Amino acid sequence: MVTQCVCFHKTFAELQGVMRHHELTTFEELKCHVRFGENCTRCVPYVKKMIETGNTAFEVFPETQGNERVSQ
Ligand code: FES
Repeated sequence: MVTQCVCFHKTFAELQGVMRHHELTTFEELKCHVRFGENCTRCVPYVKKMIETGNTAFEVFPETQGNERVSQ
């Protein structure tokens, strides 16, 4: 399961907690409050899905498998 931004050691549950605490609703707002997703960027689609669904653990998305960088 994918549960965190590994590069910045931020769990999705932690990011979700920040969103709730500050009453954030968008990915961009979250980025203003917490540093994550700026290295390999592979966590970005998962964080967006977290915001959409409220889930904090995901099966690996097929498009993020492999070692290649995921373009946005
Ligand atoms: S896992 Fe989030 S930037 Fe690499």
